[in-house]
Amino acid sequence: MLQKVVRSTVIDAPIARVWEVLRDFNRHDQWHDVVEQSRIEGGERSDQVGCVRSFTLKDGNHIREQLLTLSDTEYKSTYCIVEATVPLQRYVATVTLKPVTDGDRTFWHWESSFATPPGMERELSDMVAQAVYEAGFENLRRHLRSAGAARGAVVPAAPAGLPMPTREVRVHRYGGPEQLEPAHGEAPAPGPGEVRIQQRAIGVNFIDIYLRRGWVPGMLALPGVPGMEAAGRVIDVGDGVGGLLPGDRVAYLWHQAGAYTTVRTVPADQVVRLPAAVEDITAAALLLKGLTADVLLRDLGRIQRGTRLLVHAAAGGVGLLLCAWARRMGATVMGTVSSEEKARVAREHGCEHAIVTHDYRFADAVRRIAGGADVIVDGLGDAARDENMAALALRGHWISLGQASGPLAPLDPDGLLGKSASFSRPVVFHYVVSPRERAERAQRVWDALADGTLKMPVVERFTLDAAAQAHARLESRATIGPLVLLV
Ligand SMILES: NC(=O)c1ccc[n+]([C@@H]2O[C@H](COP(=O)([O-])OP(=O)(O)OC[C@H]3O[C@@H](n4cnc5c(N)ncnc54)[C@H](OP(=O)(O)O)[C@@H]3O)[C@@H](O)[C@H]2O)c1
Repeated sequence: MLQKVVRSTVIDAPIARVWEVLRDFNRHDQWHDVVEQSRIEGGERSDQVGCVRSFTLKDGNHIREQLLTLSDTEYKSTYCIVEATVPLQRYVATVTLKPVTDGDRTFWHWESSFATPPGMERELSDMVAQAVYEAGFENLRRHLRSAGAARGAVVPAAPAGLPMPTREVRVHRYGGPEQLEPAHGEAPAPGPGEVRIQQRAIGVNFIDIYLRRGWVPGMLALPGVPGMEAAGRVIDVGDGVGGLLPGDRVAYLWHQAGAYTTVRTVPADQVVRLPAAVEDITAAALLLKGLTADVLLRDLGRIQRGTRLLVHAAAGGVGLLLCAWARRMGATVMGTVSSEEKARVAREHGCEHAIVTHDYRFADAVRRIAGGADVIVDGLGDAARDENMAALALRGHWISLGQASGPLAPLDPDGLLGKSASFSRPVVFHYVVSPRERAERAQRVWDALADGTLKMPVVERFTLDAAAQAHARLESRATIGPLVLLV
């Protein structure tokens, strides 16, 4: 007769956090005391249905178990013993998690059925119930607590409810890079729905320059701290924040400037958790720019095989990502760059036709190469205005992304008539409104990096205090790829 063991508990952590640990079929040796050592056979992934984990217990027993089902939507996995030195026969177990909305906790249900040799029913049922399940609940609780502490070991202790001192870079007067000055500030304790982050790497974007120059005063009141994105570790979280705990590695982009600082408090819904494979510097270099590329290629450019795409500043932070991704989507990728060196790097990242021009003349080359551009991604602004119109193909779409050369003068809609052209002026923040959308887009960027669609560009690094130098370099058109400030 089959024995059945059922145990359940509530874990004081968000479901995403508990599931992150449990869904990994090879991680039990890190959190369950009874497991000595575990490995997945045949080099398969530890979340691959069908994979077999082979592990030894502290008492010397050896077990091989196979993952039968894994559902990230139902938070459920099933597995069975295929071979064991313990006399558990036909053992099939199921782990199911459910969210407990009160306090953002997790209900964990663990059950199994198995046969035993006659006379051993009681002994083996007790062993599974106590030594495996009940002990497992306690072990996982301890693991989550210590994982939080260990992750937070490099994070300063947060004075509960109090602000923390920061080192930041401020703009006191709109103007050149010299207006960026290091200063001391404070990061408030996180309020409801907020999270306080010890920042490690801060992305530098061309918009930071517009803000510093005073071109968008509504986004940077003086004195103000520029910066739209950063990566680091959670220090503490406010009431009502689910899915984030102290010590978690995260990154954010937010339409409110203020990222040029060591510690920042931001709304938790602007934050994405970082996979282990994505380092802080990678996240700061690629999050805003990668999400922008995702929006441009998928939502606006609707890039398909054969789309003739023109990317300006093709060797820039956004430019390199656009070239590589669009090429993988099958587009014919043309790009403008201002030097042979930039052309070389742009080509390495998928720009088939690099057009070297320092004075915004490219339309002839585009017509020669492809007969025109179906989509133009334009971060140059006014200096390229007429050439963009000339380079557009019939029914082409001019996406005005930015204005590195100066603000675009107002357009006459009738100017688009001659080619039935369309024009759009997107802002990435409007395309990452919900946490889900933000997380999905970020995941696409990390996936593209992992599968080689995007090649990690060389990242130019500065200290936070050297933000002025970073801005001067970016404005001088000298940089290739992304820039970050390191804390
Ligand atoms: N709307 C949005 O949501 C959004 C989001 C992200 C980025 N953007 C825009 O996308 C563009 C690229 O941003 P990024 O941060 O990746 O910068 P970036 O491309 O790394 O740097 C800007 C590049 O623009 C080119 N450029 C041409 N004329 C310039 C001038 N007069 N001064 C400075 N640079 C000039 C330079 O490349 P060459 O020397 O090769 O010409 C320079 O390297 C920017 O316009 C930015 O505002 C917009």
